[in-house]
Amino acid sequence: MNKMLWILVVVASAALFLAAGIYAKTVPDVIPLQDPAYKEHKKGVVQFSHGKHQKDYAKEYADLYARGCGECHHDKDGKPLANLNEGDPVQKCIECHKKPGEVPKELKKQWREKKVKKADQKKMKLEYHAEAYHMNCRGCHKAFNKKYKPKKAPTTCTKCHPKKE
Ligand code: HEC
Ligand code: HEC
Ligand code: HEC
Ligand code: HEC
Repeated sequence: MNKMLWILVVVASAALFLAAGIYAKTVPDVIPLQDPAYKEHKKGVVQFSHGKHQKDYAKEYADLYARGCGECHHDKDGKPLANLNEGDPVQKCIECHKKPGEVPKELKKQWREKKVKKADQKKMKLEYHAEAYHMNCRGCHKAFNKKYKPKKAPTTCTKCHPKKE
């Protein structure tokens, strides 16, 4: 091989490594949770500290993170994706929890009147994007607050949704 060709090979492989490096770092530390499926966000947009949740909290409160990334990410059957890696493709919650927003009040009332079983209510509730989020986020935060008193993870609206101007 002549010299020029060698230089080309070196440059090309360096570019590949670089691209791989950038790809592996694509999960931002803070993700604004503002799904475009919504016509309008009634509440202030949650600035979710993905980096802290996935690294710092997972290490410090390992007991709450038995399923690793799978505490929040799961497959089409709801099975936790415990061994997810940075750079793996991740489906957005909306792809499965398809209905934007929370369960409409009217519908909740109907469920109560018809005495729909709690388990069935939960299933139907989970079709709604904001309900799936609230269940996931608040679920862990409640467990945390109970165990790590007096420390507090947010469970009230404005602690996650900043007040709109
Ligand atoms: C506390 C919950 C939580 C944990 C733990 C968590 N994630 Fe996430 N992750 C999210 C949420 C929420 C989103 C945004 C999903 C959406 O937009 O629908 C997300 C998005 C992502 C994305 C897509 C980023 C983008 O820019 O689109 C990747 C990749 C990802 N997570 C990887 C991981 C990996 C790897 C781990 C474990 C090391 C992990 N996550 C742990 C909640 C979590
Ligand atoms: C590939 C499809 C898919 C994706 C993507 C997905 N889910 Fe789910 N999720 C499911 C299925 C299926 C279930 C089980 C539903 C049931 O039991 O009725 C489930 C269950 C849940 C539950 C209930 C868990 C429990 O304790 O019973 C929560 C909360 C939840 N998902 C939140 C989320 C969040 C938040 C995201 C995005 C970070 C997400 N899901 C992404 C399919 C998905
Ligand atoms: C598996 C557990 C777990 C899940 C799931 C989880 N969190 Fe948290 N979160 C924590 C812990 C632990 C703290 C507080 C740590 C502390 O105070 O030291 C926290 C703190 C926070 C805080 C305040 C501090 C900060 O980092 O901004 C916000 C806001 C927050 N979480 C949002 C969310 C949202 C939004 C979701 C759902 C997408 C979510 N969390 C899901 C464990 C979790
Ligand atoms: C632990 C954090 C957390 C808490 C506490 C919380 N939410 Fe949310 N909420 C979210 C996340 C995350 C979403 C998903 C937003 C998105 O991805 O578009 C959401 C979505 C919503 C939505 C649909 C989007 C919109 O802005 O219209 C409404 C409505 C909502 N929440 C109302 C509330 C109300 C009311 C409370 C208090 C009773 C509350 N939330 C408490 C995290 C939280």
